[in-house]
Amino acid sequence: MAYLGRRGHLTLVLRNLAQLDMEQRRTAGAQANQAKRTLEEALARRTQELEDARLAMSATQERLDVTLPGYPVTGGRLHPTTRIIREVCEAFVAMGFSVVEGPEVEWDRYNFELLNIPKGHPARDMWNTLWVDYQDPAGQQSMLLRTHTSPMQARVMESQQPPVRVIVPGKVYRYEATDATHEWHFHQVEGLAVDDGITFADLKGTLYEFARRMFGSERKVRFRCDYFPFVEPGVDMSIDCFACGGKGSGCRICRDSGWIEIMGAGMVHPKVLAGVGYDTAKYTGFAFGLGPERIAMLKYGIDDIRHFYANDLRFLRQF
Ligand code: DAH
Repeated sequence: MAYLGRRGHLTLVLRNLAQLDMEQRRTAGAQANQAKRTLEEALARRTQELEDARLAMSATQERLDVTLPGYPVTGGRLHPTTRIIREVCEAFVAMGFSVVEGPEVEWDRYNFELLNIPKGHPARDMWNTLWVDYQDPAGQQSMLLRTHTSPMQARVMESQQPPVRVIVPGKVYRYEATDATHEWHFHQVEGLAVDDGITFADLKGTLYEFARRMFGSERKVRFRCDYFPFVEPGVDMSIDCFACGGKGSGCRICRDSGWIEIMGAGMVHPKVLAGVGYDTAKYTGFAFGLGPERIAMLKYGIDDIRHFYANDLRFLRQF
């Protein structure tokens, strides 16, 4: 800097050469240029020496052992619940349903009232509810963590006219003490089809086709009466046990019965259709709801629902 820099001694000498007379200029110029070259060469040499020394040092002290085994790159995988949800959705999409999702924090009106479960009705006891400490500004509506995906039935119908054919996967929440078959949070897949002239035969045909796609083409299905306030009639659907082939005796999966319950279903209650303004003289429909964790437990032989969300990689790596 002091010599070669923009204001260095040598630079100034060279710049001021013009002020000297011809003779002086020639000798001074030659000397100054010689000095400049010498300095520049010395500088370059020293820079190179320092760089070589730095490299030599890092080669000895920061040596990389390229023979050390690297860190293994593990492939990710889908959570068993996600896999089942995708399989279920694919089966219904192939039958013309579309997939929609809805809010996990829900109004009482959608979770209960529009599903024919008015305030104070004992059917509310079927869903142990986590209430959210918030009311709408008019003070009329309470909020909750949805206890099932069924509220989306009303939301979808409010937003469109028939034909409706939707499938709704999502998380649901219950005020529940956990044990091997109960979790406070799990998933459901809801289904809804509404149109002019839909009958119970459509329900049976659609769900039968689903069972065969999901559990194998030789599956048999069984419908029995069940009660859900938002359907009439309501049923539970079982498939013949895929583990023992329906024989039953000594089977852990179907607990000796030969049948496995896989979902609730039914014909949409006219009050539910009327609640969203549908013409009940014209339209009918069917609905169903199933639990992917339950299906995964059956399919993969998982004996405790709490494994799903315990984040234990030893569990998750099996799928
Ligand atoms: N929402 C019900 C539950 O959480 C499941 C269900 C049953 C959904 C029957 C339906 C249905 O759509 O028709 O237990």
